[in-house]
Amino acid sequence: VAIAVFASGQGSNFQAMVDAQRSGLLGLAEVKLLVCDKPNAPVIERAQRAGVETFVFQPKQYSSREQYEMEIVSELQRRQIQYVVLAGYMRLLTPTMVNPYMGRMINIHPSLLPAFPGKDAIEQALDYGVKLTGVTVHFVDNGMDTGAIIAQQPAAIHPNDTADTLAERIHHIEQTLYPRVVSQLAAGKIRLADDGRHVMVEQ
Ligand code: GRF
Repeated sequence: VAIAVFASGQGSNFQAMVDAQRSGLLGLAEVKLLVCDKPNAPVIERAQRAGVETFVFQPKQYSSREQYEMEIVSELQRRQIQYVVLAGYMRLLTPTMVNPYMGRMINIHPSLLPAFPGKDAIEQALDYGVKLTGVTVHFVDNGMDTGAIIAQQPAAIHPNDTADTLAERIHHIEQTLYPRVVSQLAAGKIRLADDGRHVMVEQ
């Protein structure tokens, strides 16, 4: 089952996916492509080291978001990518990208949605003063961080936490949770219900 990972930055989740595949924890899923919108992102080197093909583009070389998304979709189709895994991909998607992969595209977000959507979710949680936050994996729809929730895992916020210490705890959770969800998805055990709001899970 061919998957593409989209990432813009460090790529610790990309790395976790590749490592999980290597140790047999990704089930039927195979990381076939990295899509990246930042030519200097560290994640690109991770892909090269892992022998994963990359499609790197520069948004400003296109006249609109739809233009580069059309190109991404054709790159995905050319490689028969079945699932898209967003892992720190820092761009909003339009229906050009979302609709062809509705129910086949997931995202990971560093909070317990619907709390703290959007950017800087970890800082938002610290600023608010909540004592519990966490990680959410969800299907992607046309809103921002609004899609049907597949899995959530909590993380406690400690009194002396900084953005860095909390981020480390959260990343640790992400790196085990995300590959697990991807393997269930590739096995056909998780799917978006017809109402587009709920998730059907088969144990
Ligand atoms: C993760 O915290 C993820 O939840 C968020 O962006 C971050 C990406 O980190 N969407 P990395 O690039 O995978 O290291």
